[in-house]
Amino acid sequence: MRIDILCLFPEMFASPFSHSIVKRAEGRGLVEVATHNIRDFAHDRHATVDDSPYGGGAGMVLKPEPVFEAVEHAQSLTGTVHSPVILLSPRGRLFTQQIAAELALHPQIVLICGHYEGVDERVTEHLATDEVSIGDYVLTGGEIAAMVVVDAVVRLLPGVLGSEESTGDESHTRGLLEYPHYTRPEQFRGWDVPPVLLSGNHGEIAAWRRRQSLLKTAARRPDLLNRVTLSDKERAWISERS
Ligand code: 6GU
Repeated sequence: MRIDILCLFPEMFASPFSHSIVKRAEGRGLVEVATHNIRDFAHDRHATVDDSPYGGGAGMVLKPEPVFEAVEHAQSLTGTVHSPVILLSPRGRLFTQQIAAELALHPQIVLICGHYEGVDERVTEHLATDEVSIGDYVLTGGEIAAMVVVDAVVRLLPGVLGSEESTGDESHTRGLLEYPHYTRPEQFRGWDVPPVLLSGNHGEIAAWRRRQSLLKTAARRPDLLNRVTLSDKERAWISERS
């Protein structure tokens, strides 16, 4: 997969992408991540990328021409014209594990980092295939959000994680929060590892984990429970505790 990131501050990506799983995936040839400065696609000699909003109001708006040309440049590098073009902005739909999994299926994705008060709406309407936000809060720009998206997508690419780091059980993959983990020591400052985990009974361990996963989800993210199918017994576990 190839990921092209179009932004105003490409230097911001150097550190996160030169560590971690993204670095390892690039080293193995599983992904290529390229950043492009939208300013390089500006038309005037001052490299202007923003302008004041029609209709008045505070702040500046990212101009359409450099953004369109930067996307067209990124797509020309692969000859792909149907790659997802994701505009990162606080107005987008909420980024989820499911969106990450869908993006991971494409040979190329293009991420546009929004800035200033916003991006000219013609980018949203006629260039971006989707507009995505990473949560209900406002960041100064889309760069950090793009890093979040890249990390979430790259770790799902086949061969990036070892089997010991598999993604099947983790939080959000099955629509629930993950069960608690414990490692040695068995007793720590008077707190014991739940005995069932030491029992060697795999059926009981799986049942305990499922119950813990449901209870944690009910306590912290009850909204997630509406989207999963539960047995009568599982519903009873939750209502006993609430
Ligand atoms: Cl994608 N961009 C900005 N600027 N703020 C955000 C965001 C994105 N997602 C949440 N807050």
